[in-house]
Amino acid sequence: MRYRSTKRFPLNASVVGLGCWGLSGPSIWKDSNDSDSIKIVHKALESGINFFDVAPVYGFGHAEEILGKALRGFARDKVIIATKCGLIWDEQKRITRCLKPESVFKEIDESLRRLGTDYVDLYQLHWPDPNTPIEETIDALLELKKAGKVRFIGLSNFSVDTARRLLEHISSMQGLYNMFERNALSYHNIPLEYRTEREVLPFCEENDLAFLPYSPLMQGVLTGDIDYNEKFTDVRAANPKLVGDNLRKYIAIVEKLKAIGSKIGKPVNEIAMNWLIKHRPITSIIAGATKPEQLEENLKALDWEMDNELFNEIEAIVLESGILT
Ligand SMILES: NC(=O)c1ccc[n+]([C@@H]2O[C@H](COP(=O)([O-])OP(=O)(O)OC[C@H]3O[C@@H](n4cnc5c(N)ncnc54)[C@H](OP(=O)(O)O)[C@@H]3O)[C@@H](O)[C@H]2O)c1
Repeated sequence: MRYRSTKRFPLNASVVGLGCWGLSGPSIWKDSNDSDSIKIVHKALESGINFFDVAPVYGFGHAEEILGKALRGFARDKVIIATKCGLIWDEQKRITRCLKPESVFKEIDESLRRLGTDYVDLYQLHWPDPNTPIEETIDALLELKKAGKVRFIGLSNFSVDTARRLLEHISSMQGLYNMFERNALSYHNIPLEYRTEREVLPFCEENDLAFLPYSPLMQGVLTGDIDYNEKFTDVRAANPKLVGDNLRKYIAIVEKLKAIGSKIGKPVNEIAMNWLIKHRPITSIIAGATKPEQLEENLKALDWEMDNELFNEIEAIVLESGILT
């Protein structure tokens, strides 16, 4: 395993991390089940993965509980637990954004209980809340730091303007980023306030922040396992880029990547992971998995490095395809 840290994020995170949304259970990710989820976390630990990205809203508390259960008995100081706050839900499981201090104080205690720990290493604000002045939220997080419940603060889905204002307090940014979604305008129909490659990556690099790319495999598209006629029935059904003609456009490019990969004996998932590893401010690639074999396959990306020739060949295909914004 390779590890990376930055001045503001000095935690030595594994370059391949584990995105834990897939631990939510089958009502969210159709192939997710608890027994495989526990195996995935254990496989991750055995392989040197120490970075786990989760959130309360993933499975409405379930993913945090499963992660906590899987980590029980493992040395706490050897893992980096990154969770989030700011998406809360009601009895009907309707999700709203809320970063009010009293809500954040409640959320952290619930996360700590579910995770079975007394601190989180990285506490990320999941999405901006237009109804709460961000300074009030940051003051609440600074209190949590003082109380020892939180070690570092991160932003997820925030603009560079806000990150610049909060720079002295933050250690990381998280955003949508993969080979096909470099400066995406939206995620699951939600407009994004940032352009990842154009704005966030250079900002993180200049300011020594960790960058965590989410949906690094474009929710399975960048693995080669999805075909032209796939009809998603889980959380991905809400992603308009993964439906009908939109999906077919991406799969046509994946087919070209497969052809390039077959010349060097490398599958598309490894190419997609290695393409990300080449982008320096990326600290940990938080790819998700619902089966232990997927994690093993993704880890194989660490056995080789993408040379400039392959990188340029890929760039030509993706840039010419017209899918980038
Ligand atoms: N901050 C945010 O707003 C935000 C938003 C989204 C995600 N995230 C974080 O980012 C993490 C990853 O994002 P994501 O889950 O959206 O997408 P992702 O990591 O791009 O894709 C995960 C899915 O890809 C498929 N997959 C993975 N490895 C594979 C392999 N080797 N072969 C075939 N298929 C494979 C699996 O699909 P199947 O289950 O169909 O097999 C898996 O569930 C999440 O777990 C979460 O921690 C954060």
